[in-house]
Amino acid sequence: MSNFDVIIVGSGAAGLSAAITLARTHKVLVLAKGDLAGGSTAWAQGGIAAVLDAGDTFENHIDDTMVAGAGLNRRETVEFVVENAPAAIERLEEMGVPFNKEAEVLHLTREGGHSHRRIVHVDDATGWAVQDALQKTAAAHPNITMQPNMVAIDLIADRHAETSTGTKNVWGVYALNNATGRVETLTSRATIMASGGAGRTYLFSTAPRGATGDGIAMAWRAGARVSNMEMMQFHPTCLYNLEVKNFLITEAVRGEGGHLLNPRTGKRFMEFYDSKRMELAPRDIVARANDAEIKQFGLDYVHLDISHETPEFVKNHFPNIYDKLIGLGIDMTTGPIPVVPAQHYTCGGILIDLNGRTDLPGLYAAGEASESGLHGANRLASNSLLECFVFGDAAARDIAAHWDDMPEPPAIRPWDESRVTDSDEEVVIKQTWTEIRRFMWNYVGIVRTTKRLERAQHRIDLLRGEVEEYYGHFRVTQDLIELRNLIEVADLIVKSALARKESRGLHYITDYPDLLPEAEDTVLTP
Ligand code: FAD
Ligand code: SIN
Repeated sequence: MSNFDVIIVGSGAAGLSAAITLARTHKVLVLAKGDLAGGSTAWAQGGIAAVLDAGDTFENHIDDTMVAGAGLNRRETVEFVVENAPAAIERLEEMGVPFNKEAEVLHLTREGGHSHRRIVHVDDATGWAVQDALQKTAAAHPNITMQPNMVAIDLIADRHAETSTGTKNVWGVYALNNATGRVETLTSRATIMASGGAGRTYLFSTAPRGATGDGIAMAWRAGARVSNMEMMQFHPTCLYNLEVKNFLITEAVRGEGGHLLNPRTGKRFMEFYDSKRMELAPRDIVARANDAEIKQFGLDYVHLDISHETPEFVKNHFPNIYDKLIGLGIDMTTGPIPVVPAQHYTCGGILIDLNGRTDLPGLYAAGEASESGLHGANRLASNSLLECFVFGDAAARDIAAHWDDMPEPPAIRPWDESRVTDSDEEVVIKQTWTEIRRFMWNYVGIVRTTKRLERAQHRIDLLRGEVEEYYGHFRVTQDLIELRNLIEVADLIVKSALARKESRGLHYITDYPDLLPEAEDTVLTP
């Protein structure tokens, strides 16, 4: 058993932000299940939203966030995040993030749903620059230990104590060390779940392979409520390519003037879906428009075209996307890019308050694993990295402020492997994983019906039994841990979708096409 002050599950924007604040006073262990830069943070393209222009106001950013979120957002959270955004950008600049500037002033780009230019960015690869700066800052701090290749399996709670404490406290995690194949008992007074989203529940997703909702599933199993899991965001413009399946084409391409075209007619089609905001309507509207065009015309993809701008303009704004596409034989300076919608962001998650606290004492959450009330029914573009910085910092401050009230972990039983053997049927994992992702895509996607949701629920109930049986008999591997979490999260998504009897934001269900008068969160209680 190894003991730390605080354990943070996740080395992305949320986890490292929390670690850097906490390290002033506490010893922190940061876990990543693969590489430290393996989460979504490093893949972010567009940038980070913040009011930094004299012509813009906090009120504008708050309104845009609430409009995109279809009124489901919690206003105090939106205010908290928006008002803390400029300070978050300043901290990142101090850590060395080389944001683009023009004449010493931060360059602000534009994305869908934003009424003003307010996205700071590093070319079209903002996430990589942010991840790099956070990692270097964390690595230089003696109070931070970063441990890659360590897969958290379950939260440690009272039922794992040698002697019951009769509390609901969380005291760290059991984690599989991929290097040794052993499960370690890692205890702490406080634990922060910063484990990212659940995009890989879907067949097509822009998210990295590890986005299997582990933290959401772990917190749920430990007894924490989750909220708004039906609000799965689909990005309108993922590259359509038979070799490269999940490459995002940033929304900033539309922000800088790109048009969506129907490849059959060669004409712009957004006027039929949102004639005022056109390609810069919020993401749920544009994704549904792309999906509708593809289905109505029997297409494989729609076109995203910015070739009416000069080649210099395109290459200057989107150097990484340009290079990637050229490598695939697509020249975006002379012709359109084939794109399709794909799952992109998990708006729901572990329910937290303004201090990142969950229902369970000692357990905090931040970033994409959490549901803070910021995004409501649909996340406004480039608000999520921002949420990671603000809530990572808030959770860290709350832990430091309440440290003396947090009990030391009791003696914890080690992981019991006495009744399991090595699996001889790994194909079962692959088969079940593919099955889940396929029916989630087909039955719980951009446009839903009650009948399809019920079909998905039925399949989940069948597969859950099989996965649990498998989990009970065989030694854990990363794939098995992820599969167990994937089925848990799929279940939460479908149950939440069935519970919402209206169409709001990202949840569009043909049986209930209208909006109910009151916006209410879908909160599931274990
Ligand atoms: P992540 O960065 O995903 O990190 C998760 C961490 O948890 C990883 O270190 C992972 O290893 C670890 N982890 C997970 N499970 C376990 C486990 N069981 N045990 C141990 N460790 C575990 N947002 C914006 O605001 N602006 C953008 O421009 C933007 N562009 C995007 C582009 C793409 C292609 C994608 C996919 C997302 C984009 N987003 C963007 C969304 C944004 O990147 C994410 O919401 C954000 O980075 C999430 O950060 P996070 O710290 O919560 O999680
Ligand atoms: C993008 O660059 O289009 C992604 C922005 C985001 O997801 O916030």
